[in-house]
Amino acid sequence: MIRFFENYSLRKHTTFGIEAKAKFFFEFTESSDLIEMIQANASFQEVNKLIIGGGSNYLFTQDFDGIVLHPNIPGIRILQDDGRYVSVEAGAGVVWDDFVDYCVNEGLGGVENLSLIPGCVGAAPVQNIGAYGVEAKDVIERVNVVDLKTAERYSMHHTECKFGYRNSIFKHELKDKVIVSSVEFRLERQNTVNLAYGRLKDEVSKYGDPTIKNVRKAVVAIRESKLPDPLEMGNAGSFFMNPVVEESHVNDLLQNYPDMPYYDVDGVRKKLAAGWLIEQCGFKGCRKGDAGVHQDQALVLVNYGKAGGQEILDLSEEIRTAVDKKFGVILQREVIVV
Ligand code: EPU
Repeated sequence: MIRFFENYSLRKHTTFGIEAKAKFFFEFTESSDLIEMIQANASFQEVNKLIIGGGSNYLFTQDFDGIVLHPNIPGIRILQDDGRYVSVEAGAGVVWDDFVDYCVNEGLGGVENLSLIPGCVGAAPVQNIGAYGVEAKDVIERVNVVDLKTAERYSMHHTECKFGYRNSIFKHELKDKVIVSSVEFRLERQNTVNLAYGRLKDEVSKYGDPTIKNVRKAVVAIRESKLPDPLEMGNAGSFFMNPVVEESHVNDLLQNYPDMPYYDVDGVRKKLAAGWLIEQCGFKGCRKGDAGVHQDQALVLVNYGKAGGQEILDLSEEIRTAVDKKFGVILQREVIVV
């Protein structure tokens, strides 16, 4: 099934709840729909393209003069099951948390720490979504894509995807060149849960044994306690990435800020907590017009109602300047500004 619109409002396709229009909007439920459309329209190659799944990572500051492609491909199916490892394929349009829920209910471990992350399955490899000690790359086996130029389907092994922290080949070499149609995950029945993230172990113990079901419950509880629900307050999760800096820089900062949280990356570089840096600059809970910084998690910028994309972008730039001035650290956006 396809749906095609002109001058289409994207408000309900982005979690920031900001009004912006796309010149063209093409939604499809099968990759063959997309392939036919590409083959039938030579002009498709000329227009700007933007791929929107759940829209949980975009900030629109103006209308989009091009075509928005919205893969709404459904379906979850088991490809292989050897009793221990299970290969599961999910369509790009499956709501991410529905997929996690399915896995947990089937007793398949590996994605429970990624419970409640907004967005759809198709975005998981693009962003290499991550939370509570797990990243999508840990469980992705293959990514199936359609080439937007040749209209061919092909499948990529996880080793070809150049996964990094909130990063992949789909954000660089293959940006707007391919569209993810489905993702194959390798999950495990006899799962050992990952409780490496500080608060998780204590939270899980409130529910009983450390089973994948209880890990899901605990992650949901932690997220609900500090991350705003986009349906109630527009936001796109973490606005910035946690910055990775040299060890010497961390040591300098620790002289003045001995309580500063940081994590090892590769023995040499360290990751700082952007939320902490922003809070230290006094932005936590601040509000400028309808744009603001969430009161429980400074890394999340929110739309209190009628904020425009530019208003939120301006606040984010103010934060970026303040963090650079105080800590000499440049924050990079996780959110994509259109
Ligand atoms: N912190 C503060 N003040 C704040 C926020 C955080 O001091 O306002 C401190 C915390 O006390 C903690 C540290 O910063 O010591 C890290 O905070 P937290 O565990 O909440 O996680 P985060 O680093 O802020 C990252 C991800 C989240 C993910 C959580 C949990 C990024 C950019 N964000 O946030 O992912 O849910 O870890 O694993 O890596 C997302 O990407 O949209 C997202 C929500």
